[in-house]
Amino acid sequence: MDPVMDPVLEVQGVSLSLGGLTILDDLSFAVGRGEVCALIGPNGAGKTSLFNCVSGVYRPSAGRISIAGHDVTGLKPHERARRGVARTFQNLGLFPSLSVRANAMAGAHTRLHARLLPEMLAAPWARAEERALQEEADLVLDALDLGAVADTAVTALPFGTQKRVEIARALMARPALLMLDEPANGLSDGEVDELAHVVRGIRDRYDLSILLVEHHIGFVTGLSQHVVVMDVGRQIAAGTPAAVTTDPNVVRAYLGDPL
Ligand SMILES: Nc1ncnc2c1ncn2[C@@H]1O[C@H](COP(=O)(O)OP(=O)(O)OP(=O)(O)O)[C@@H](O)[C@H]1O
Ligand SMILES: [Mg+2]
Repeated sequence: MDPVMDPVLEVQGVSLSLGGLTILDDLSFAVGRGEVCALIGPNGAGKTSLFNCVSGVYRPSAGRISIAGHDVTGLKPHERARRGVARTFQNLGLFPSLSVRANAMAGAHTRLHARLLPEMLAAPWARAEERALQEEADLVLDALDLGAVADTAVTALPFGTQKRVEIARALMARPALLMLDEPANGLSDGEVDELAHVVRGIRDRYDLSILLVEHHIGFVTGLSQHVVVMDVGRQIAAGTPAAVTTDPNVVRAYLGDPL
């Protein structure tokens, strides 16, 4: 594989053991600036566990994770967030009863230093800051086609829309690396196409590098420049979408033979 120029994320020899089990085994890959990189593989391959290592939820048992050339392996999740890492979750991590706008604004807390967001929103001296944050959130919501539902409670929205709210929340942290865990899961074909369009739009507008976990293979091949294939914690292939989807090992382990 060609070395990635100017990597935003480097995963070098990362292994993870949990409860005596090897979950990840010596993974190495990089995500270049402005690139969409996808992680694919069967259920239980370790894709979400790798996300947890990159965002700092899990500490790898071996290896190194670097963000924009800085080793972050020992840093806590909030410290990595300050260095530009933001993610969405496979099972939504939103405040269901709050509005779409409030959920988006909550995503800014990682860069608001010592202040707690609820205090900030309640304090009279902070009205100007609140307004600025609200305006920023509204721009992000527009970029995700969520402007029309900004005042709607998240729980009242279809699942596919809620997934976009999670992306809005992550964007409010102003990340350099956005990690999306199964953003197309549960969406109709039309919604998947719309999501691909929206993700391309935010990548360009916000100058993002994206690490994507997704089972919807059309979504992956349409969006990614680089695909890493995992199976039972190991990397079994990596390369362009065209190269990995025709790789016999990948077909055998994950994609299955074409009908
Ligand atoms: N906290 C944990 N303790 C023990 N084992 C775990 C833990 N978290 C995940 N695992 C195991 O690690 C393996 C990889 O799980 P992971 O959720 O990373 O897979 P995945 O590739 O994201 O799968 P899916 O496509 O189903 O989301 C699975 O065997 C899972 O049971
Ligand atoms: Mg997963």
